[in-house]
Amino acid sequence: MRTELVDTLVSTLPADDDHPYRSGPWRPMVNEWNAEPEVVQGAIPGDLDGTYLRNTENPLHPALASYHPFDGDGMLHMVEFRDGRAAYRNRFVRTDGLAAEADSDTQLWAGFIEMPDVALREDGWGIRGRMKDASSTDVVVHGGEALTSFYFCGDLYRIDLSTGETLGKQTWDGRIPSWGVSAHTKVDPRTGELLFFSYSKQEPYLRFGVVSAEGELLRMRDVPLPGPRMPHDMAFTENYAILNDFPLYWRPEHLEAGLHLPHFYREQPSRFALVRRDGTGDIRWFEADPTYVLHFVNAYEDGDTVVLDGFFQGQPLPPTDGASSLEEIAFRGLALDGMQTQLHRWRFDLRTGRTTEEHLSDRYTEFGMMNATAHTVPHRFVYAATGEPGRFLFNGLVKHDVVTGAETEVALEPGVFCSETVFAPRVGSGAEDDGYLVTFTIDMNADASFCVVLDAADPSGEPVCTLRLPERISSGTHSTWAGRSELAGASMLG
Ligand SMILES: [Fe+2]
Repeated sequence: MRTELVDTLVSTLPADDDHPYRSGPWRPMVNEWNAEPEVVQGAIPGDLDGTYLRNTENPLHPALASYHPFDGDGMLHMVEFRDGRAAYRNRFVRTDGLAAEADSDTQLWAGFIEMPDVALREDGWGIRGRMKDASSTDVVVHGGEALTSFYFCGDLYRIDLSTGETLGKQTWDGRIPSWGVSAHTKVDPRTGELLFFSYSKQEPYLRFGVVSAEGELLRMRDVPLPGPRMPHDMAFTENYAILNDFPLYWRPEHLEAGLHLPHFYREQPSRFALVRRDGTGDIRWFEADPTYVLHFVNAYEDGDTVVLDGFFQGQPLPPTDGASSLEEIAFRGLALDGMQTQLHRWRFDLRTGRTTEEHLSDRYTEFGMMNATAHTVPHRFVYAATGEPGRFLFNGLVKHDVVTGAETEVALEPGVFCSETVFAPRVGSGAEDDGYLVTFTIDMNADASFCVVLDAADPSGEPVCTLRLPERISSGTHSTWAGRSELAGASMLG
């Protein structure tokens, strides 16, 4: 393996840190590397062509009161494959918050489970204010650059796909909404458009926007809600964006007092907004069973019906009995078995305004990915993570066949965890599952991380290849795959 240590950032975390989300598989990295990773098993297929991008949370300073894994600074890992070769780079996202905290050698803003008034600074980002935009939640590729983002609304940071360097912020010629943009922007692979939503504690509480393939903000539209909400994801079909109003939100009576206490209003329906992408027509609302959804997989139009697949939560706020701390309560809500996340299908009838829905699987899975060419059309395969009981860690994955109901499980060895696993189509592929699954593992047994490539047609078989990364990475949240054409000429392979 050829490696070059490019930089090491200063961490003020204690050497004997035992926080469950800053140690073990969540131990943050401080090093930035360029590497040609060693192939330790199999061979890199010549028809795997593109880049796997993975965002992770890497805190550099102790929290002011209580640390939550969503607070860690964004670090983007990238592996590019071409002609049977691979190159790896990892870089911190150079956010404004990271720079300010490097100057002061301390955490300056409040985290997810802290009161905003613990912040040492009056300014900040996010719907609650006085938080740091760590840009560690999501990553997409649009306009030949990676864009990292923050779940509570913030800036979009532009990352160079050749170097991993942060290029600044994407503002779409200064037209980005003042509320910022939420994580889980969506790129439509058919049109190249980027769809986004933005939310606030101010009316109308939710907005939806469309950016052209060329980077021009084409339109924004208000999607008025009854009050502040916490949407995390959206979906889209050929003609519609699907936004949501779930009955999990901050108690309004406490919000007036500055307290952000989420409550699940079990007696209230979930509501889905169908908004035409072209800006015409009225917003149509559909009611459904109460739940909360972190992530959707796909949506498409089927005659007069709009079909939406995502992960229904049986327990959006897991029971708190026996919990001894706020952290423990919050961490229960990170585990897939705590949230009881099941692949689910909603069908919205445009003629009657009615919704029908059903579980597509009995298993708890989440973080579902698919062949991007099946977006906005009926898909068959969803590749989703399985969760380590009680933890925010992925201990394997399941290939869901939503047509036959068949499920293929890939269970990792105890102590080995994977990342959100993407589908990379084989060059010249035909069938929906003709390609590869790409993930990073955090192998506590080997004290190492690997990039593992599986055959998507038979993921339970021997990996196609396994590449060793320079050091064990931290776990994190989201990933994406960018095929060669999306890289727009950018390359780490020279
Ligand atoms: Fe997410």
